Amino acid sequence: MAQIIDGKAVSARVKANVRKEADELKKQGIEIGLAVVIVGNDPASRVYVNNKKKACEEVGFTSYEYALPEETTEKELLELVDKLNNDDKVNGILVQLPLPKQINENSIINAIRPDKDVDAFHPANVGHIMIGDFSFLPCTPAGVMELIAETGVDVCGKNCVVIGRSNIVGKPMAMLLLHKHGTVTICHSRTKDLAEICARADILVAAVGKAKFVTPDMIKEGAVVIDVGMNRNENGKLCGDVDYDACFDKAGYITPVPGGVGPMTIAMLMKNTLTAAKIKNNIK
Ligand code: GUN
Repeated sequence: MAQIIDGKAVSARVKANVRKEADELKKQGIEIGLAVVIVGNDPASRVYVNNKKKACEEVGFTSYEYALPEETTEKELLELVDKLNNDDKVNGILVQLPLPKQINENSIINAIRPDKDVDAFHPANVGHIMIGDFSFLPCTPAGVMELIAETGVDVCGKNCVVIGRSNIVGKPMAMLLLHKHGTVTICHSRTKDLAEICARADILVAAVGKAKFVTPDMIKEGAVVIDVGMNRNENGKLCGDVDYDACFDKAGYITPVPGGVGPMTIAMLMKNTLTAAKIKNNIK
């Protein structure tokens, strides 16, 4: 039977540490600000943005929300990013993805100042992650690493399989596991014998975007199973990529959805914003 990895508890700990440091900085007159930009009416994005604002309150940051209409042009959004890049009160800029189709996401990501890029999506930050010399870690993969650390399982030498190759999760996830000396395989929609590869994983990270994609035959007995998925099932209920109930007995450790990776992503965003403020103010 698996042990449940409690993302809510781990994220509360991360946020408490951020709060402590933010309170110290406040005593020195340093206020920390995060700008959160949302374009359009995507309901899932609205939930994420609200949760990010709530987390700012919890850790003592000021959040600045910019909610722009669906028909916003790329030029208008670039102008806002430019304004935020030059705003001293803003330590971190987060533009919630996905963006409406008339806006090129890469143009926006490229326009964010790398030292305010608390998502770590800018190519300069991606490069830093690749060579293992980074200030900001991408929030979701960094949160997953914290959850793996929580199990006490050492990544060094383990077979690690990541399902999904997105820029936000799959690719940086593989890199962080590699930095910890895991033997890493990335699987995706064209992978042959995917189930067999997954079944050899000591650590399996699912970031596919399909409910119940990971079934018990794809899990090694006792494996660490991390579910990054955020899907809605046929009843509209939030569920991950892993068939949780069916896999529970076989996994060694498993993250629930909700209450696993989700809260960690936000906690790591707070940590990155704190880091951005510390770098700006030359604080180690
Ligand atoms: N959309 C889904 N995940 C993320 C994330 O981590 N950051 C941003 N900016 N948008 C997202």
